[in-house]
Amino acid sequence: MTSLTSPQPPAPTVALAASARGLMKSFGRDDTLVHALRGVDLDLPAGRFTAIMGPSGSGKSTLMHCLAGLDQPTAGGVTVAGQALEGMDDDTLTRFRRDHVGFVFQAFNLLPMLSAAQNIWLPTELAGRDRERSLRERFDGIVETLGLTERLTHRPAELSGGQQQRVAIARALLSAPAIVFADEPTGNLDSSSSAEVLSLLRQSVRELGQTVVMVTHETEAATYADDVIVLADGRITERRQAAA
Ligand SMILES: Nc1ncnc2c1ncn2[C@@H]1O[C@H](COP(=O)(O)OP(=O)(O)OP(=O)(O)O)[C@@H](O)[C@H]1O
Ligand SMILES: [Mg+2]
Repeated sequence: MTSLTSPQPPAPTVALAASARGLMKSFGRDDTLVHALRGVDLDLPAGRFTAIMGPSGSGKSTLMHCLAGLDQPTAGGVTVAGQALEGMDDDTLTRFRRDHVGFVFQAFNLLPMLSAAQNIWLPTELAGRDRERSLRERFDGIVETLGLTERLTHRPAELSGGQQQRVAIARALLSAPAIVFADEPTGNLDSSSSAEVLSLLRQSVRELGQTVVMVTHETEAATYADDVIVLADGRITERRQAAA
């Protein structure tokens, strides 16, 4: 007979890359007041690919900016890699982002004077990290996976849009951040480059255990994700997991 006092097995713990509680964000005041986020609760498990969808103006970028520590919520809290962002001053936040967060933007945001390789190395260089062997090996592995080996000496203007976005992905992955945020990463790409970039993000989750959160308009893009979150008017209206 089991005793009522026998210890319960521990609940399975899911490592969270990031979470948000009661997140609100307003812009402007009086006549120009906009409630971009109206109370968002969200857990982003580590090692998964999450797509954030919803119509234009629903708050997707605002949510991503608050989760990434690029913008301060009006109320509520965000935790990334086990640390609460609330109360961090600008310098601390900047360092925190540099050490724990990777970004991929719609507009690639590569530095035009630098080669592909220099662009990929830049954030770790700014962080003052030595190019020790393990980091160089990771660089080689990422560059090879992303098919950039032959393009490392090229400047952004000498690369196609898809290649530029692959350089931006390599740059985001190199430091093995707790989480990579991608806002419409395929917004400037044709359909075949888009499919390629999405497969590579998918692959970084599956093979490198990377956590990726992607904002997208495109239903097709969301099919690459494990989890889909739908926003409407600043609230989450749907959460679903990919079928398999
Ligand atoms: N800096 C800002 N100042 C004022 N209002 C803002 C600001 N940023 C966003 N907003 C407003 O907040 C709401 C949500 O904007 P957000 O950019 O998060 O939408 P989105 O879902 O990313 O849209 P899109 O798909 O068009 O990129 C919109 O009504 C927008 O006009
Ligand atoms: Mg947006």
